[in-house]
Amino acid sequence: MIGPKAIIHLDRLIHNYHEIKRYVGDVPLMTVVKANGYGHGAVPVAQALQKEGVTFFAVFTIEEAKELRENGIIGDILIFSRMNREFVEAAADLNVTLILSQKEDIEILKDLFQRTHKRPKVHLKIDTGMTRLGIPYEDAQNIINDLMYSPEIECEGIYSHFATADEGDPSYAKWQFDRFNKVLKIMGKMKFLVKYRHFSNSGAILNLPESKLDIIRVGMLLYGAYPSNEVPHLLDIKPVMEFVAPIVTVRRVLKGTFISYGGKYKTNKETNIGVIQCGFADGFPRPWYVDGYVLYKGEKFKIAGRVCMDQLTVDFGNVIPQVNETVLLMGKGEHGSLLVEDIGQKIDSTPYVLFTAIGGRTERIFVDK
Ligand SMILES: Cc1ncc(COP(=O)(O)O)c(C=O)c1O
Repeated sequence: MIGPKAIIHLDRLIHNYHEIKRYVGDVPLMTVVKANGYGHGAVPVAQALQKEGVTFFAVFTIEEAKELRENGIIGDILIFSRMNREFVEAAADLNVTLILSQKEDIEILKDLFQRTHKRPKVHLKIDTGMTRLGIPYEDAQNIINDLMYSPEIECEGIYSHFATADEGDPSYAKWQFDRFNKVLKIMGKMKFLVKYRHFSNSGAILNLPESKLDIIRVGMLLYGAYPSNEVPHLLDIKPVMEFVAPIVTVRRVLKGTFISYGGKYKTNKETNIGVIQCGFADGFPRPWYVDGYVLYKGEKFKIAGRVCMDQLTVDFGNVIPQVNETVLLMGKGEHGSLLVEDIGQKIDSTPYVLFTAIGGRTERIFVDK
């Protein structure tokens, strides 16, 4: 098929997994494969990790969990989204774990138990400062008390989520971690013990190693990118994705020629303009055209003018690439790298946004050397 391709190097994923394990030591990893494995393909990614010994995965929706189960993932799966009456029974049937993030969730689980005698496992989510999902920090003690007297609910874990773990200044993350520790202390005093206490993500692995606790939820580092350029780059991780697209035509144009929509790019000399079959509908970051470039045989060539829905144009100067050859748009290829972190920084975006956007007509190809 002609068009953009995301070549997913599973060998690099496995390398990253072992590199993270080497760095964090004896703490197991809950590998986060939500949003189609951050755009890398949740099923092949989870299957490769399971082969390597991973026994805990995280996704966002029940549908994502179901897809993993249907494709042979047998380990624990935590669903990050808010619990809902609509899917609690399905969660129990799939043996996946839910989060308990609101007082009302207790009633949902009790009703389910009364109707069916089913008890999906839950992890209690405490909001220590993200102000999104979670039991407000101030209410934690009351909820724990409720759970102590709710044998219909099987609480296997407790966790919280950092708002700023990947930022240069760790003070807010430290404050959140202090609050979480206070909750854990209260739990200890109440003798309410759970199997898993967790908080750390990719940013915290690097910025706040003391927050690793019983299990680490890790996403971005597995895919071979740093969550931001503000965290220390301490690991030998490799970009798992190689995002490429074919050159479909090349033409010589005169000095002073306007290229693409809006005429934002005007050639300053006679030059070769190539058309690449990948556009913003395939997940190519449109704002990147301002300063952006692609790699052809390891050399940088400037994106010429606005990225279109299905195509983008590149100024190849006096180089004459062949039709059907490919350019590297993002990630690590045979001849070089174009790091997603760097693109993110240039266009005020993040690796999370850039990876999960990749889709449209992009074909994913899985390789394992
Ligand atoms: C609740 C939760 N935990 C962990 C992660 C993993 O974060 P990271 O990809 O930075 O490791 C995410 C990702 O967004 C998340 O939402």
